[in-house]
Amino acid sequence: MTQTGFKFTRRAGFGSEKVGMAQRLWCLTVLSAAMIAASGTALAADPPRERLSLDSGWKFHLGDDWGTGEKLDKAGVSAGPAKPSFPDTLWRTVNLPHDWAVELPFDPASDRSHGYKPLGPGYATNNVGWYRRTFELPKTDQGKRLWIEFDGIYRDSRIFVNGYRVAHHESGYGGYCCDITDVANCGGKNVLAVRADASQPEGWFYEGAGIYRHVWLEKTAPLAIMPEGTFVYSEFKDNVPVGAAEIHLETRLNNAQSLSADARVKWEVVDPDGKTIATAQEPVRLDSWAKAGLKHSVRVAAPVLWSPETPHLYKLVTTVESGGAVVDRTETGFGIRTLAFDAANGFLLNGRPYVIKGTCNHQDHAGVGSALPDELQNFRVSKLKEMGCNAIRTSHHAPTPELLDACDRLGMLVMDENRLLGSDAQNLADLETQIRRDRNHPGVFIWSLANEEEVQRSAAAARAFGTMQRLAHQLDPTRLCTAAMNSWSGGPPDGFTTVMDVQGFNYLNNGDMDAFHRSNPGKPAIGTEEASAFYTRGVYENTTNYQSAYDDNKPGYGATAEEWWQYYSVRPWASGAFVWTGFDYRGEPSPFNWPNISSEFGILDTCGFPKDVFYYYQSWWSDKTVLHLMPHWNWPGREGNEVDVRCFSNCEEVELFLNGQSLGRKAMPKNSHLRWAVNYVPGTLSAKGYKSGKVIAEGKIETTGAPAAIRLSPARSSILADGEDISLITVTITDAQGRPVPTARNLVSFELTGPGKIIGVGNGDPISHEPDVCVSTPRMRTVPLTDWRLKTVPDAGRHPEIAENFNDSDWKRVNVRADSGPLKPNESAVYRTHVSLTENDLAAAQVILNFATIDDEGWIYVNGKLVGESHDWQVDPAFDVRKWMNPGDNTIAAVVKNGDGLGGINHGVTLEFQPAPVVATWQRSAFNGLAQIIVQSAKDAGEIKLTATADGLQPVTTTITTQTSAGRPGVP
Ligand code: GAL
Repeated sequence: MTQTGFKFTRRAGFGSEKVGMAQRLWCLTVLSAAMIAASGTALAADPPRERLSLDSGWKFHLGDDWGTGEKLDKAGVSAGPAKPSFPDTLWRTVNLPHDWAVELPFDPASDRSHGYKPLGPGYATNNVGWYRRTFELPKTDQGKRLWIEFDGIYRDSRIFVNGYRVAHHESGYGGYCCDITDVANCGGKNVLAVRADASQPEGWFYEGAGIYRHVWLEKTAPLAIMPEGTFVYSEFKDNVPVGAAEIHLETRLNNAQSLSADARVKWEVVDPDGKTIATAQEPVRLDSWAKAGLKHSVRVAAPVLWSPETPHLYKLVTTVESGGAVVDRTETGFGIRTLAFDAANGFLLNGRPYVIKGTCNHQDHAGVGSALPDELQNFRVSKLKEMGCNAIRTSHHAPTPELLDACDRLGMLVMDENRLLGSDAQNLADLETQIRRDRNHPGVFIWSLANEEEVQRSAAAARAFGTMQRLAHQLDPTRLCTAAMNSWSGGPPDGFTTVMDVQGFNYLNNGDMDAFHRSNPGKPAIGTEEASAFYTRGVYENTTNYQSAYDDNKPGYGATAEEWWQYYSVRPWASGAFVWTGFDYRGEPSPFNWPNISSEFGILDTCGFPKDVFYYYQSWWSDKTVLHLMPHWNWPGREGNEVDVRCFSNCEEVELFLNGQSLGRKAMPKNSHLRWAVNYVPGTLSAKGYKSGKVIAEGKIETTGAPAAIRLSPARSSILADGEDISLITVTITDAQGRPVPTARNLVSFELTGPGKIIGVGNGDPISHEPDVCVSTPRMRTVPLTDWRLKTVPDAGRHPEIAENFNDSDWKRVNVRADSGPLKPNESAVYRTHVSLTENDLAAAQVILNFATIDDEGWIYVNGKLVGESHDWQVDPAFDVRKWMNPGDNTIAAVVKNGDGLGGINHGVTLEFQPAPVVATWQRSAFNGLAQIIVQSAKDAGEIKLTATADGLQPVTTTITTQTSAGRPGVP
């Protein structure tokens, strides 16, 4: 077997060939033991690093009434919610991950591809969200390095700590780490504010909005391993996985202090049974404020190999000692395995051809949108594995780290995809962060650097691709790169094909793959995307809004499951492929438009309920014995008419029976299905599956009675009381005999008591406009008060000018949004404005008059009545003025007294209307018999009771126990 391109020789010595960021980071000072001076810093026994969750207790406001919060003229003084003193008590409290897009209603005028959620151009009030959180840092943190790490924010986020801007990050998918050491307040309160702006889409599918992934606070000693500073990978001689494996260990250190330091890095390789099987160490001297990279390798004599079937995980423990103390310690999971691509035999895992039975997936689930609790990653990966899927493609962007963790642990290969093609500095920096973060994951087997770029066949795009691929190779010598191309040359190569390691094909009907293979016999290939067939769960005829679940419907470029799999299964050089898609997702409701709001490409629907085609794949992809009949057998009114009965199975023969009468036994063609035309008679349709003449499987579908009861089936009836864990509960409508009614659409209401909450509901219906989320705190409305007039007065007393009806029409106008006011030292003035309110406005529970700055003192009057005072220019005074306001015209007056410098009302004034909380009613209609409800634990152990009721149906209660758990360490 000739393996091409499977292994890269490192093109340069460690740290000598550098690109972009790497150039700055790899400033090596690795010395031999003999060179170690005794002068290093003696660091006290600092505790090793802490990684604390910052997910809980955020304040959230949807809407941008304050601009970006940035003040680019002066550092450390930001405006609006970015300002530490900003009053956010009225804002909603949310925990992360959080997606505000899923909370928005559907709107037929908004973008189809994003699932008709009112975001983007024309939806200014929905596009920007602000998040705020305070946290305490103990005095003992003084001298440590402090980082805030965001796994991903959608999108264009600005991060402020204590009024300082610490990051402006555009990508909605990349993680990033902000060093906040300089601006942190150790021994007191810190204010973290995040502004996310989702107005510009990055993709053509539902993308969510807000802080939809985890946030962490990391504390390290000044001398510590850098963020993403560990790389561990295995190598076998000639890439043949027999005998010992060489484990390459790389560690990047940062010495963030004014003293040079002697340190020692110790590596320990721990096998899947927890036994330390190899150790190594290396001394290093670091100059003050310098970084250093170390590398070493150890041998593991008889490693157990990682594969989707045997997901054995090793662990690298890296310890850093300096000054007689352990100053850092990290643990990094990894796997030992070989990867290769062969132009004739396709992808090789651990030296053997390994067919990719893959699915592409977006990060979107019923109920929660893009904000997936970690357990949902387990659920989704497990469902795909159950089908025989062995690989996922993170289309079309960097994944969340917890998805990769689930894939490593459960056994799933990953094509790790990048969002944007481009060799500009920013894009390369984002790609570098992605590769550094993801390259230790054994599941990741290839990098995909682009998808269906319109410029994919141009020379310029090929050069940009080449630059990205070079960076990927420099950061990761173990993996190749591909791009998902939906146009390629059958003759001489062009565009990406001229440079990329592995040719990626999107859709066999987009070109002639065989012609490509003939013209490029030495080029390895992989099917990056196939199928795009349409199916609605439980529907068996094409209607105005649904596509039948028979494997018949596809777009022009696409293929049915059977068509594409039969094509790939006889072309080993093509490596197998990824189905578009594993799960349905919001947006791209092809082949429909409104009222369809989600896609129907999935093998499973948005809840993860399998469609019939799931069993086609399971028949030919897994080693389970499968026998699946379709459609359902509830066709009242169609008695005597022909019904198209099909069977997905991997048995050699299948015999079909209607009410006990055999309708014939047929041999199952490989990678195909069986079909019978059956005259409908209610009752039982059953089948027997045979192997070597013996019955090895049986299946049946029955005509059911009318909906009579509800069944609740928790995927997990015991979860951790950590405030994060979830149970997915399947809601099934059954007949009186407990048989699922496949056509039921009953509206079900849910009530929960005990230590937990409902976080989302769904049903997989692509035209359902029912809310997935029930928000009990209605949206606050903010009205900026900009039209003010001013008159100077001799002092700050109660002058007639504050009266409700004082004529101010000839007073001069004043800008209250500026950074400084017009008042001279010791000058006083009356400011006045008018606001017209309706009865409806005053139905709000609170109406807050909010001043960003009153410099220096103020006395506030509404309709002539004193409502409050402010005597500190650094505080943002806010007053609940509802009880002083009337329907119609209202006068707001403020007597302002300036002290030193210039003063007045600055940085804006707003009126905020906070409606009273509503009683949240969680409900969802079943779609073809099923719905899903997601329940999350609180932090107390106990029993969650979930009751489901529906008109005319027997109600039901299920119990989920929450077990005491310390949970992950978090910032209170
Ligand atoms: C592909 C594209 C996917 C999705 C799919 C729908 O061309 O890569 O993102 O749009 O079509 O069929």
